[in-house]
This record gives sequence, C-alpha cells and structure tokens, in this order.
Amino acid sequence: MKSYDCIIVGSGISAFQLAKHLDKNKQVLIITKLTKEKNNSFKAQGGIAAAMSNDDDWRLHYEDTIQAGCSFQKAQEVEALVKNGPALIQSLIDEGVPFDLNEEGDIRFGMEGAHSRKRIVHSGGDATGKNVMAHLQTTTNDNIEVIENQFVYECIMSPTSNRCIGIRSKSQEGKNYQYFAQSIVLATGGMGGLYKSTSNESSITGDGLALAYRAGAELVDLEFVQFHPTLLHVNGACKGLISEAVRGAGAVLYKGNGERLMGNEPPFFDLAPRHIVAKSIYEARTSGSEVFLDISMIQDFSTKFPTIASLCEENGISINEGAIPVIPGAHFLMGGISVNANGETTVKGLFAVGEAAATGVHGANRLASNSLLEGLYYGKKIAQYLNELSDEGAQEFIEVRTKESVEILELPTKKEIQDKMLHNCGIVRTQVQLENVSKWLEKYAVAHESLASYQTPQIERLFMLQVAKLIVTAALTREESRGAHQRADFLETSNEWQDIHMIQSKKGIEKRALYEQSQVEVNA
Ligand code: SIN
Repeated sequence: MKSYDCIIVGSGISAFQLAKHLDKNKQVLIITKLTKEKNNSFKAQGGIAAAMSNDDDWRLHYEDTIQAGCSFQKAQEVEALVKNGPALIQSLIDEGVPFDLNEEGDIRFGMEGAHSRKRIVHSGGDATGKNVMAHLQTTTNDNIEVIENQFVYECIMSPTSNRCIGIRSKSQEGKNYQYFAQSIVLATGGMGGLYKSTSNESSITGDGLALAYRAGAELVDLEFVQFHPTLLHVNGACKGLISEAVRGAGAVLYKGNGERLMGNEPPFFDLAPRHIVAKSIYEARTSGSEVFLDISMIQDFSTKFPTIASLCEENGISINEGAIPVIPGAHFLMGGISVNANGETTVKGLFAVGEAAATGVHGANRLASNSLLEGLYYGKKIAQYLNELSDEGAQEFIEVRTKESVEILELPTKKEIQDKMLHNCGIVRTQVQLENVSKWLEKYAVAHESLASYQTPQIERLFMLQVAKLIVTAALTREESRGAHQRADFLETSNEWQDIHMIQSKKGIEKRALYEQSQVEVNA
C-alpha cells in the first residue's frame, strides 16, 4: 500500500498547476483515467482571459464575468480570480510559454463572447491548452508521480473519523489498487460526455462529481450546464469545437436562408453570452433551419486557426468555401462539488479544483476563457494552502475490503444516457421532459455500496446515471430561467429566486439561500 501527501485525481490544467506549486518535499500522485493528454485542458482552443492590455482593468473583467454569469457568483471569488489573472499569465510568459504576439512583438489580445475588451491571450492560435499543458507537464518536479490508465472508483473514508483518506482504482485489466494520502484532490473536469453533442474529451463523464457525492460531499448549482454555440456539425454528428475566437475574429452566424442569426441581439450580436447564442441556434434548428458560421472575412484562417482548419478538412468541410455548419453542444459545468476558497469540500481531507469544483466564480453561465484561468488560479491557491497544512489527520491504512457480491444491473448504454440527457435536459428544458428523464433514471438509483466487483465501463455508466439524476433534480427544482438553465415553462430570472442555490448531498436537495454563509461555515 502506497501513501502520499497529496493525491490528485485528473490530469488537466488545475491538476498540474497544483502539483507544480506543492512543496518539493511533498510526495504527490497524479492519477488519471486515460493518458495525461486526454483531458479538456489539452483540447482547449480558446485562450486565457486576463486584464493585461493598456485599455483594460481587472474591474472591467470582473463586470463582464458577473454579467455573463447573471450575477449569481460569489463576488469576492470573482474579484480574486480576475485580479490574479495578469500575474498568472506573466509567470507562464517568464517560464517560456509561447503566447502569440502582434507585429510590434507585444502580446496579442483576442476577443471572445461577452467581453467588453480584447483580453484573451492565445498560444499557437487555437492551441493554447495544448501548449500550456505541454509546458506544465514537462516541467514537473521529481516528487510528482503520474499513474495513467487507472480509473478511480471510490474515495476511501476513515472508519473512525469520517475523513477521506485515500482512493481505490482499477487498471484497464481490472486489477484493484488503493492509495492513501493526507489530502485527496478531485480534478476530474466536468461532465460534457453525459450529452450526445459535446466539445469535451469523450472520457469526461462526471466521475469526480459521482465520487464526491458517494463520499458524502455536497454538490451545488448542477442545473447550470453551458452549451457552447458552435461545434462542427457534419452528417448529423458533432465533430469538435469551433472556437468562439473565430467569431471574435469577425465570423458571423447565418441561418440556411441567408438571414443573420444574431441580428436582433444587441449589444453583442454574434458575441453575446454563450447561453444566448446557443439558445438562438437551438431555436433556429428547431424551426427547421441549419446554421452556418461565415468565416469568409477572416484572412489567413488556416494560419490563425490551424487546429480548426485541420478539423474541418478531416471532416470534409472546405475552409475556402467560407461556411462552417455548426450546432451547440455541452461544454462546461458551472456548478459542481461545493468548495470553499481553499478548495475544501464538505468532507474532511477531500478537495476539488477546476471544472469539477463549484468555486462560485462562474455563476449561471461562464464567461469565455475564464476556465483555464480558474484552473491556474485555484491550482496554485490550493497548493499554497496544502503547503501550510499541519499533519493533523495523517494517513490511516485499511485493508482492501473483500469483494462483496452485489447485484449487477442491466445498465443502459452510454449512448442511451447521452440521448436522454440531450433531449430532456438540454439547452431548453420543461417540467414534463425533466420528469420523464427523472423517472427513467430512477430505475438505476441503487446504493451500490461496493463497486470493487464491477468492471470500469459499468462503473462509468453508474456514475453517469448518478450525475445525470443529480443534474435533472436540480433542473426540476429551479423553477425559473437563468443563464444556462433555460426552462421553456418559466420566464427569465425572477427576484424571488435571487441567490437561492440548489445544494445536493446524500441527504437530498436543499434550496439554500444562505450559500455564502454555508461557505463561511465550511471555512471555519
Ligand atoms: C472556445 O474556444 O470557444 C472555448 C473557450 C472557453 O470555453 O472558454
């Protein structure tokens, strides 16, 4: 049995940033489901938002973030995030990350949806995630061990203190392992893979959310699933992201009949907040119209967006013809595992960071290019907190439980789950749709105390069903439309619901108005 100071589950930007900032005398394990390149950070085409240009200020970045998120954030966390942006980018520059420059040799700032200034830094055009991740992964210290291709299926809880003390995992051959640590950090990303159309890496199906829930932690705001407006749509299937930076460079959305799609949505038009653009595309498609992104005005498209140009080419779409067929797809979860400012969940010893965590910075809809920033900021912040943590609650070791015989249910396929979620809990939801899918999910809501005898694909689907049920329950409970949560049967944001958050745990769902207060208590 191996023990560490810190175990990080997941291998995206927040995981590696955290590992990098932990003291070098700490033994750190990064454990990841597939290889360390298979994550959303690596795929990220958009850049990192930071108020660094001469005409910008953190206050403007703050206002844009709050406005995109429909004022549903923890204001002090948003302030800390945007204030820290420039220094975090500067340290990557100092370490040699090649951010794109303009003709004068200064950082080039790009535009994306709902930003009032050009403030997005990119690297390699649309390869920011790949370049930043390559940097973080090649500059890790010797104290960091990386285990790939192991699926973490359980948080080990102390039998005496209700504290998380380790994890159980399975290799691809089905062999069970367990690892112990003083701190366990879930950095597993979101849950885009719960939906048929998604920009996410296909393995991102909500594992961390299910792990935290099963360990007894609280989850919050799960109804806020952001749909990115523009995914490449070929032969009825979604083939990958067409970055918002393309619209930032001037591209325009058109309906099949040649009408401009966002013509009536001032002040941002095609660069309105994502939930607005995604809903417009959804409505156009529902009324029978295809939607295209006109890129004909962008000079040197393939140089500016090499990843997207290759994606189009691989899928038979000619860049030279200037029109890319697009469809919205699940992109980002604003809610997640409830954490305080230091990443602590409501279970002792268990932390969450990155998209898996609900830090309160995104509110009801995330501002473009704030997610890599969130990973950099909280990865470093949590590392600093853990570096100061005393040895209190040091590791206890417990034996692997003997295999229990558990009933193995006939489970739906991944595709069935993804179809059900897209059609019943997608961009626009109704009570009837949500109740239908909720009833369907109910059949699979069994306890599954031990998962040791299950195979990884079965556990993955059980986790998907669990997370789907939590999202649907939150979406049913929120009887209003706000940001990424659009209910066809309820109007936009009513004051009565201001600041009420849906918190879920094994105890059930709570509509908690004093969310901020509860976070203060977690901190105490
Ligand atoms: C994009 O490139 O459009 C995605 C960036 C983001 O999600 O912030």
